[in-house]
Amino acid sequence: MNIYNNISLKPFNTFGIEAIAKTFIEISDINDLINFHNTEILKSEPYFILGGGSNILFTKDFAGTIIHPNFKGIEIIEKNKDFNYVKVFAGEIWDDFVNFCVTNNLGGIENLSLIPGNCGASPVQNIGAFGVEIKDCLESVEIYNIETGEKRTLTNNECKFGYRTSIFKTDFKHNWLIIYTTYKLKSSDYSFQTSYGALSEELKRHNEVSLKSIRESVINIRTLKLPDPKEIGNAGSFFKNPIVSIKKAEEINKIFSDAPVYKFSKTEVKLAAGWLIEQCGWKGKQIGNVGVHKKQALVLVNYGNAKGIDIINLSEKIKNSVFFKFGITLETEVNFL
Ligand code: EPU
Repeated sequence: MNIYNNISLKPFNTFGIEAIAKTFIEISDINDLINFHNTEILKSEPYFILGGGSNILFTKDFAGTIIHPNFKGIEIIEKNKDFNYVKVFAGEIWDDFVNFCVTNNLGGIENLSLIPGNCGASPVQNIGAFGVEIKDCLESVEIYNIETGEKRTLTNNECKFGYRTSIFKTDFKHNWLIIYTTYKLKSSDYSFQTSYGALSEELKRHNEVSLKSIRESVINIRTLKLPDPKEIGNAGSFFKNPIVSIKKAEEINKIFSDAPVYKFSKTEVKLAAGWLIEQCGWKGKQIGNVGVHKKQALVLVNYGNAKGIDIINLSEKIKNSVFFKFGITLETEVNFL
């Protein structure tokens, strides 16, 4: 267990926002967890579990303890005729895990290539892209309650996954830490998801549809459309795509016939927040240190030295104009601390 005091959180969030944590504890194995549980820290001050920092906006300094799980390891734990069960610890980088799976001919998460962040954070918001979400092949999640010391294994069903949400954003928020996740991945007879427009277009440049060509195509699309957090601070999609009634979408389509609409449930559809934001004239706009990405309006960016509040102010302006023009309230996908 490594403990640091008054540490800058800038390297620990992809937005690249400066904030100071009073205490920062890096936890690398289960013994660390037990030792930490026995300390007085939890009783005396607030704490927050921070993974790869790719979906967080720091709005102020943190006068408590940041707990950073850094368990490492990827292991194939079981194989049968059709599937491999792979255990991945929370501190592994998500895209390293995707690469491991594709290299080992395991199918299921190739569409999720290059999503920033660590494996431990991926179930929290049920990460998704190009028609695939991790709930489609997640088997179970091993968790630890840092206040009570209780350990549990949650099945896929118990995680209550939804669009960019799970039990880790509701009932199990705050005190449950993810140790590792187990995925059930196909070792043959893959069911490729290539229907997503941009992906099927990009795949035409390859001779065949394979785990490798899908991964390469997704990497190409993401590299062209989304800013690299190492160059421009950002946390991917800042807002969720809004889920609205079919009736509401029809009203919008009457005026804007090109508005993208995706099936969601029997009564609801999903609209593209990026499209709504672009229609309000925000795409590519810069206000001081912050702005809206020029190739994808759903992504807010830090051009350098922005404070969390600058991003919040921009996001409020965007929300107001989308509400004014379309009567839709955008919800943030990014968490605030
Ligand atoms: N669009 C615009 N203008 C924009 C952005 C998008 O008109 O500035 C339109 C596009 O032309 C398209 C539609 O909106 O018709 C959807 O856009 P896109 O395909 O880029 O996907 P998205 O809905 O904006 C979602 C995820 C992304 C994921 C992509 C690809 C959410 C909140 N975002 O974005 O996930 O990579 O689909 O599957 O669901 C993330 O969560 O951080 C993230 C990047």
